Amino acid sequence: MSQGSEDKLLKLRAKRDLSFFDLHSVSQINDDDLALILDLARGFRDTKTEKLNFCKGCSLVHAFFEPSTRTLSSFDLSAKNISMDTNSVSSGSSVKKGESFLDTAQTLDAYNLSVITIRAAQAGVPEMLSRHVGAAVINAGDGWHEHPTQGLLDVLTMLDHLDNKDLKGKTVTIVGDILHSRVFGSLIRLLKQLKATVRIAAPETFLPAEVEKFGLTTHYRVEEALEGSDIVYALRVQKERGSGGFIPSLREYSKMFGITRARLDLANDNAILMHPGPVQRDIDVHSALVSLDSQSHILRQVENGMAVRKALLWLLSKRLDGKTKPYERL
Ligand code: CP
Repeated sequence: MSQGSEDKLLKLRAKRDLSFFDLHSVSQINDDDLALILDLARGFRDTKTEKLNFCKGCSLVHAFFEPSTRTLSSFDLSAKNISMDTNSVSSGSSVKKGESFLDTAQTLDAYNLSVITIRAAQAGVPEMLSRHVGAAVINAGDGWHEHPTQGLLDVLTMLDHLDNKDLKGKTVTIVGDILHSRVFGSLIRLLKQLKATVRIAAPETFLPAEVEKFGLTTHYRVEEALEGSDIVYALRVQKERGSGGFIPSLREYSKMFGITRARLDLANDNAILMHPGPVQRDIDVHSALVSLDSQSHILRQVENGMAVRKALLWLLSKRLDGKTKPYERL
C-alpha cells in the first residue's frame, strides 16, 4: 500500500468518533456515522490485504454460537489486517456445559479485550451483553433481529454500483424469507435512512405482521415486484429457523419466487443481483446466476464485508475521545 492510502485513512479517522460504543442495531447509526464508516471502508478496500499497525495492542474474541463462513472469517481477517490479536469461542464453548452468555462474556472481558463479536440464535444477546462488559460488542447476527455489518456491506455495494452513489429514488426489491431474516432487519432500516424505494416479494406466510410500517410495498407476485428494479436482493429460505413449515415445499417456493434469468431480466438493464449468502442454489437463486453472471454482485458483497469490518473494528477499538465505556457489573 502506498503511504498516501495510509495517510488518507489516518486523516479520515482523525476527524471524529462514532456516536455509539457498541453496535447491536443499525438504528444506532446516524448519517454522520454512516458516512464515516463507508468512507473508511472505501479507503480500506484500496489497501486490500496489506497489514496495517492501526490496532496494535488491541485484542478481539469472536463468540459465535451459530455457524458462519463469511462473517467470522472476514471479521477475523479484518482484525488481523489491522494488527489486532484474535481468538474464538464457538459452539464448543462452555455454554454447552451450562455457562450463561453473561458469564461467558464477562469471562472473556476479563482479558481486557477491545472488542467482542457475538453471533447467537437468540435475538437481543449482543445488546444485553454490551451493558455488562467493557469491551465494545458488535452484533454479528442475532436470531431474527439484525445483522448490522451485513447491512453496512450491502449498502456499500449498492451505493458503489450506482453512478451518482445515491440510493434516493432507486428501487430495491427484496425477495424471500423476510420473516426470519436478520439481514432484512438491518437492510430495511439502512435503505429507508438512505431514502431508497423498497419493494418486498414473498409468500404471505413469509411476511412479518405490519411490515408495511417500514414504508415499503409488498408483492405476492415476484414478477410484478421485479419490473423496473435497480437492485434485486434475494434472501435465503432459513430452514434452521423452521421456514419449511411456512411454505408448501422448497420446490414450489423456488418455482414461484426463485430468481431466474427470465425474472432478473424484468429488472432494469443495469440492475444488480445480491444475496447475503450462504446461497441455496436453485432455491433462492438459479445456479447459473450466482457467481458467474456479470449482474451478480454476491462476491463483491463478500469483498466489501472485509472493508466495512476493518472500518468498524478500528473505530470501536481505538476511540479518539479516550473515554472508557460506562458499563454495569452485576
Ligand atoms: N451472510 C452471512 O452472515 O453469512 P455467514 O452466515 O456465512 O456468516
